[in-house]
Amino acid sequence: MTLSTRSKTLFDGFSKLNRRERLSRLVEMGALSPDDVTFLNMSSGLNPDLAENFIENVMGYFQLPLGVAAHFHIDGRNYAIPMAVEETSIIAAVSKMAKWVRKHGTITTEIKGSGTIGQLQLSRVASPLQFEQTLLRNKDFLIHSANQDIAAGLVRRGGGVRDIEVRKIKRPDLETMIVCHVHVETCDAMGANIVTQVCEFLKTPIYDLTGEMADIAIISNLPDCKLTQATICIPAVDPVLAEGLVEASLFAECDPYRAATHNKGVLNGIDPVLIATGNDWRAVEAAVHAYAARSGQYRPITRWVMEGKSLVGTFEAPLPVGIVGGVTRLHPTAKMCLKMLNIKHADELSRIAAAVGLVQNLGALTALSTVGLTEGHMRLHISNLTIEAGAKGAEIPLVKKQLEEILSLRKRISASHAIEVLKELRERTRTSAPAAALVNHHNTRE
Ligand code: MEV
Repeated sequence: MTLSTRSKTLFDGFSKLNRRERLSRLVEMGALSPDDVTFLNMSSGLNPDLAENFIENVMGYFQLPLGVAAHFHIDGRNYAIPMAVEETSIIAAVSKMAKWVRKHGTITTEIKGSGTIGQLQLSRVASPLQFEQTLLRNKDFLIHSANQDIAAGLVRRGGGVRDIEVRKIKRPDLETMIVCHVHVETCDAMGANIVTQVCEFLKTPIYDLTGEMADIAIISNLPDCKLTQATICIPAVDPVLAEGLVEASLFAECDPYRAATHNKGVLNGIDPVLIATGNDWRAVEAAVHAYAARSGQYRPITRWVMEGKSLVGTFEAPLPVGIVGGVTRLHPTAKMCLKMLNIKHADELSRIAAAVGLVQNLGALTALSTVGLTEGHMRLHISNLTIEAGAKGAEIPLVKKQLEEILSLRKRISASHAIEVLKELRERTRTSAPAAALVNHHNTRE
């Protein structure tokens, strides 16, 4: 049974399954193979020698929890989306919201533009105008040389250097700095290495042509030549809910202090997908934040408005990702996660990440504009508090149950509640008092 035909039913009750059942469901969906399940069951056994190929001074691996976002239906296709993240409630919130959107509306995505940008800086040139004219006159030669000598592999895959642009930037001393933008189509790779190599290569022919030597050659992490968009449309939405969402969106639009938190919530959805698939999430973070600040004021990367009776949410930002290159095919977990998504192109991964970010944002704004974050978040955080307090074995369910009751009663809970509950549980166990007495004891206090 393929994911695309049956995931609606196979995701039913997903969050209530235990891990073994959840993995069986994912096998049934076709998202995982039985070998993947074996791998996941022993995934702390990743080979440290492999890590020596990725980084330096290796000690081992840092393990993040790997979960799956359920119920996603994007551009008419079902996805089980891997997310590597440590923060409680992100996956629960995004899955719950994806289920709601699936029932009441649609998620569509799009890529606008293409390529990525490399930069060559020439801090001072004798004549900026002459430099520009010479470079533009020889642009085709420079593009051809780079494609032949350094980007031949990329050209074979349908990409390569496409254009060179000359920018003149005013320096603080009012002289002109030249910055050349080299536009490169990197196909399914994020392309940081090849773009930087292309720019470094171009230094010499540019010097030969102009007599000017570039200082710095590097990829730009603001590739705004290619934007990823996602749209959620909810027709016939509850007007009270919608008003709260539109006002929450406006808050972020008007106030950079709120926009930073708003965008952090969007990235709560995006980063875990990037990490799970072995992508450079720092590059995406840089792109998103730089794009968010492009007007001179830091703004949200999503927006929620009413169009007639429909609620429409949009995401737009550069999300430069790859499905080849880097560790995407080398890290066994990233490789498995990419296989699980069953995608053919990097653009599809970028569109999925945008959709997850937008749904995550919808979840956060819905909670903030209705019941608030604390109760739902804290309910899911109870396990962490219980373990942090030092509960072991049979103590764990008792402490968790009692923390849940305290939360229902007082609408808040903290690490000190967990410590107190555990301390009292242990004291009462020592004096053989029944655990149930503890619950009553706490519920009647304060
Ligand atoms: C918490 O990790 C993220 C939120 O603060 C995002 C938001 O406020 O929109 C909930």
